[in-house]
Amino acid sequence: MSARSVRILMVSSEVESLARTGGLGDVVAALSRALAALGADVVVVTPRYGVTRVPAGARAWPAPVTAPLGLGHSRQLGVLEARLGNGPRACMLTDAQLFDRKGIYGDAHGSFDDNAFRFATLSSGALSVAERAWDGALPDVVHAHDWHGALSVIYARRSRGPAWSRVNSVLTIHNLAFQGVVSPGARDYLAIPPDGWDRGWLRHDGAVNLMKGGIELADRVTTVSETYAREIQRRPNGYGLDAHLRWHAPKLVGIVNGIDTDAYDPRSDAALARRYGAADVVQGKIACKRALCAELGLDPHGPLFGSVSRLQWLKGIDLLLGALPALIERGARFALVGAGEPGLEAALRAAAARWPGRVAARVGFDPELARRVFGGADFFVVPSRDEPCGLTQMYAMRYGAVPVVTAVGGLLDTVTPVDVAHARGTGILASSADEGSLLLAGEEALELFGDRIGMESAVARGMARDSSWAASARRYMSMYEELLAP
Ligand code: GLC
Repeated sequence: MSARSVRILMVSSEVESLARTGGLGDVVAALSRALAALGADVVVVTPRYGVTRVPAGARAWPAPVTAPLGLGHSRQLGVLEARLGNGPRACMLTDAQLFDRKGIYGDAHGSFDDNAFRFATLSSGALSVAERAWDGALPDVVHAHDWHGALSVIYARRSRGPAWSRVNSVLTIHNLAFQGVVSPGARDYLAIPPDGWDRGWLRHDGAVNLMKGGIELADRVTTVSETYAREIQRRPNGYGLDAHLRWHAPKLVGIVNGIDTDAYDPRSDAALARRYGAADVVQGKIACKRALCAELGLDPHGPLFGSVSRLQWLKGIDLLLGALPALIERGARFALVGAGEPGLEAALRAAAARWPGRVAARVGFDPELARRVFGGADFFVVPSRDEPCGLTQMYAMRYGAVPVVTAVGGLLDTVTPVDVAHARGTGILASSADEGSLLLAGEEALELFGDRIGMESAVARGMARDSSWAASARRYMSMYEELLAP
């Protein structure tokens, strides 16, 4: 490569600070910034939803871009450009009909039934943005995230002409449980290459499967931890695509996520009642715990377990609720925050009603409260059945809360078991994702809580862990460079 920067087009349904529901948005924003810091020229393309927070300095492109779709149709999309911090450019696609709604994937009435078409429009629109973002030059790499961006890999390789078909592509799987499964009747208007269906590389179980198609055509497939990269090649974590992923194993790589250690820093976090660093963590956390308990109406005495999660079956909140009574019996307090499936939201509220002062539940997506939970909790529980990477356990460690996690996916790669005798480890691992193992892990936490020195040293090791993007961003960078090598 010459001295010019590598041009990377990121395609994602979520970007933190603009719109997000979970870790995907955090990762796309933080990775893009870390790559820019390494010298890459990154453009992130994402929809401008009704819920997007458009940065004050955003400016509209003078003319819309045209996104070709199936059956000879195309859509005219406006583009709002802003900067993410002082690094990458973010281009938000505007389309009053498709994107200007009160939600990313759905609203109070449920998920939108035209999501495949909405994200096909994102995928095609992103390529059109890229045709202008670098003064007519194409990007070196199209990097798509999850099934929402998978069609950008497919369109680049198959339908946008010879120059695009030579552009390298990367697909990152943040969560294989969601694959973009669409009825076969939608093939034509989504502009699906016919052989994808006929030869089966994007057909699965009689439906169009966008993730499968993206995996087939991308030059590299990455996922967000090394353990998850292995897990998805087997049942049940492959969700039907395990054989497809085994076939493509030579181009599949696990690169563990980092977190934005500037945005998540207890020394400067304005959401906290008191800011603190490693040197004054004990006093800092006492103040934060007291404030959090007051905010949530919890009794501040006794070990406080926090949990912040999307409420989906895979996240295992029901397992935690199963272990709750026995742990409360032994003095534990719980601060539970999350939004998602109505049944789980109701279960959270019911637990709070049953144990007032001991269990608090806040139903909703509240990133500021999440920070106060990281700051105020002694322990932070991630009870997932399946966890591609997970970020909250890393935020928790950085804020001096000891993670209590199931030994799956990225949790296994980021949390090491506490061993008091040898002064090692940063958290507690439940050997498997079931109520019994979580209960045992919770009991181990209570025991650690009773051992002041053991607890303080576990907190200190968690805070000292390097969860920054530095190392992982370099791995992405070398992957791009490898793809671009002549
Ligand atoms: C998804 C996964 C989560 C991962 C995040 C960012 O939300 O469920 O495990 O940390 O993507 O990659």
